[in-house]
Amino acid sequence: MTAAALDDVDLQAHFDATIAAGHRIEPRDWMPDGYRNGLIRQIAQHAHSEIIGMQPEGDWLLAAPSLRRKAILLAKVQDEAGHGMYLYSAAETLGADRADLTDKLIERRQKYSSIFNYPSLTYADVGVIGWLVDGAAICNQVPLCRSSYGPYARAMIRVCKEESFHQRQGYELLMAMMGGTPEQRAMVQDAVDRWWWPSLMMFGPPDDDSPNSAQSMAWGIKRHTNDELRQRYVDMSVPQADFLGVTLPDPELSLDPETGHYRFGAIDWAEFKRVIGGQGPCNDERIARRRAARDENAWVIDAATAYAEKHA
Ligand code: 3HC
Repeated sequence: MTAAALDDVDLQAHFDATIAAGHRIEPRDWMPDGYRNGLIRQIAQHAHSEIIGMQPEGDWLLAAPSLRRKAILLAKVQDEAGHGMYLYSAAETLGADRADLTDKLIERRQKYSSIFNYPSLTYADVGVIGWLVDGAAICNQVPLCRSSYGPYARAMIRVCKEESFHQRQGYELLMAMMGGTPEQRAMVQDAVDRWWWPSLMMFGPPDDDSPNSAQSMAWGIKRHTNDELRQRYVDMSVPQADFLGVTLPDPELSLDPETGHYRFGAIDWAEFKRVIGGQGPCNDERIARRRAARDENAWVIDAATAYAEKHA
């Protein structure tokens, strides 16, 4: 065995021991190519989701019903931009290039969350996105605070704190609407009917059809399977729906007294595949806007880069 090969064996053994001990991998540590590429894939997809996710709610910024609602929504949408920036920075620590990741998103070579390909039709959607979509994001992302890659785990701590505010503002808006007129209550129910199933799809395909889960969990990037987190989310959401006074659109939803978990109906995985394959209701619009933002604002990056180069 050559000295270089021996080094690789030692490095792999050290990496494996670090993961097994539950310690963090940091940017300067040796890591297998698969670990690095898997992380870039997941973190980029996550960053793109935060940035594209600004669009459905951003559509309501000019039509918020009061100054208070506008200030809350503005803060939330700005937070999502910040989350995208932390995540792109985390991807950069792995050697990825931010502009290249943006190009890959726009050229549809990298994904973003399926959920953001659905339209926000009324102001009740702002509340339901906060409650259900940010609620699903928290459920998925709190365990990522213990992810094995240091910069990703640390970014998730701040992201989760802010997502918690996002969920509460959504629920508070819905409580106000449910205490309002019959038309307002009907708007809330209609929004819940449209967002419930897509929010269950946010957790990804079922475990027996999730190509990345096993390796990702072995490396400590993910801490739970897609189905485990989806079940946790359903269990958490049903009592919240009851308190709010809305009906979740699933006649099969029932508490299993033996397990203490809610059973739920079949998810339409054909719809999920269509949406992540680019055929959702808003995929084209979301990408077109992101492309326009990149192209129209390229001069800002050019100017900032020129300034940085001059003062380097
Ligand atoms: N939407 C789009 N693509 C999805 C998806 C979804 N809801 N769920 C899974 N996929 C993709 C995966 O990216 C993968 O494709 P790829 O190999 O080309 O990357 C493929 O479907 C197979 O899925 P796997 O289960 O094998 O993939 P993962 O192990 O990566 O699990 C995940 C998917 C659970 C989404 C995981 O990547 C994850 O936990 N990511 C971090 C969190 C995240 O990205 N959340 C997105 C929402 S962000 C958000 O909600 C913003 C907030 O402001 C509301």
